[in-house]
Amino acid sequence: MWKPPERIKYEPAPGQWPSEAEAADSLLFSPLNIGSITLEQRTWIPAMVPWRATDEGFVSDDVLEWYERFARGRPGGLVIEATGIRDIPSGPLLRIGDDRFIPGLKKLADTVRRASDGHTRLFIQCIDFMAIRRRPDPAKFFERFLRVTDEIRAKLGAADWSEEEVRAHLAGLPNEELDAILDERELESLRMGYRERVTDTHLPHIRDLPEILPGLFAQAARRAQEAGIDGVELHYAHAYTMASFLSRTNNRDDGYGGSRENRVRLPLEVYKAVRAQVGDDYTVGCRFLADECIDGGSGVEDSAYYGTEFARAGMNFLSLSRGGRFEDAQQPHVGEAAYPYTGRSGYECMPAVISDEKGPFGRNVEPASKIRKAIRDAGFETPVVVAGGVHGFAFAEEILQSGAGDIVGSARQSLADPDWFLKMRTGRGEDVRICEFTNYCEGLDQKHKMVTCKLWDRLELDQPGVSKTPDGKRRTTPPLWDGAS
Ligand SMILES: Cc1cc2nc3c(=O)[nH]c(=O)nc-3n(C[C@H](O)[C@H](O)[C@H](O)COP(=O)(O)O)c2cc1C
Ligand code: SF4
Repeated sequence: MWKPPERIKYEPAPGQWPSEAEAADSLLFSPLNIGSITLEQRTWIPAMVPWRATDEGFVSDDVLEWYERFARGRPGGLVIEATGIRDIPSGPLLRIGDDRFIPGLKKLADTVRRASDGHTRLFIQCIDFMAIRRRPDPAKFFERFLRVTDEIRAKLGAADWSEEEVRAHLAGLPNEELDAILDERELESLRMGYRERVTDTHLPHIRDLPEILPGLFAQAARRAQEAGIDGVELHYAHAYTMASFLSRTNNRDDGYGGSRENRVRLPLEVYKAVRAQVGDDYTVGCRFLADECIDGGSGVEDSAYYGTEFARAGMNFLSLSRGGRFEDAQQPHVGEAAYPYTGRSGYECMPAVISDEKGPFGRNVEPASKIRKAIRDAGFETPVVVAGGVHGFAFAEEILQSGAGDIVGSARQSLADPDWFLKMRTGRGEDVRICEFTNYCEGLDQKHKMVTCKLWDRLELDQPGVSKTPDGKRRTTPPLWDGAS
């Protein structure tokens, strides 16, 4: 994973914990309406893919246990991981692309309701992503994957060579010569693995995304509603399709790229289709980037505009993330796919304790504050979720008091200690297990292994009834907190 060159080491510093009375008086533990539902407190666990679904994308017992464990801490909002809206195989990623997924999701919603005693509102993050392939073995790339084009032949002076001859010749060339012969995308396919972009409008399925996606998202949202999930979060963030439409790098010339107005068009059309499907009473929001954190990407001003347009359209909440793009991802090993959290933008998404002068905690607070102000200045009261490095009460409260956000998201801290909301609220903050922000969990995510936290995954492994990872070495959820009632 990329680290800032300054390499300044930070220590987590949760600060002062509240007494039970102070917690009761805080903004963090005060309610907030989002759409037609009420969050009992302004705490929020953003989506985290834990790699626990079945290979067919169904809710498994491990998925149920994972969310049950989070729900026991009674956060105000809990977002189910990025869940695919298409009915296509995507490994152990949760899916919502067909009605056959509804019963499992219903069980999940019931589990969270029961485990939180009805105190936690449940959301599901709906995602669309484009094709990405593993970095190929160069020999195979030249033998099979590369399309031998007239451009390549012209550069080689090989108009009358057989295709096999061209392929064999290319396979023997050193990197510098390949740089001069293959184009940027061909080189990317060779060195990073093939990856589709929303600008690949020569491909019919990419060209047609604006026609297809509103319906797919709308049907996914209907299924979430039928499953009894309280709301939907449209995934417009990070490296995926919708964020790529919003990106400044999107120069599609069909009215869905280029200007800001055009880039936000499909995200708005998707939202409108979803709203038309689920009705006015269902809670629908989105997660998008405050800043793409890549060269030539969208920045805070673009995001202030997007946020205002999403609010104007009627979204019920806006959750802000940052970075996490493919454009600056590190080169994967042969046989592995690029991972969008390995470059600078990945660092911005999940900052770790080796950092720069800004430090790893709250990097998105100032941008969020600007975006929220733009939304308020335009006359909208849409709640904004801010996340990134939050691991203490005082900081969370300051985010709310300063007006940077209306809800505080904490992903890794909640993974380190899913009971931390309950502990804070009951004056037991000293018992909170503090995240170390060294991203062991994220490393597991990158390898598509069941995500756990290093602070608890080896504890009490031999206790009866403990669910373990397939290799038997890690427990899949933390031990129960004996202070929980
Ligand atoms: C293991 C893991 C999986 C994640 N999966 C998702 C995801 O599915 N969707 C998403 O929007 N963000 C995802 N994130 C990013 C988090 O939601 C969050 O934005 C990020 O970790 C920064 O917040 P934090 O500092 O509170 O952890 C993931 C993070 C981790 C650590
Ligand atoms: S493994 Fe645990 S301690 Fe480490 S960053 Fe992830 S949640 Fe925090």
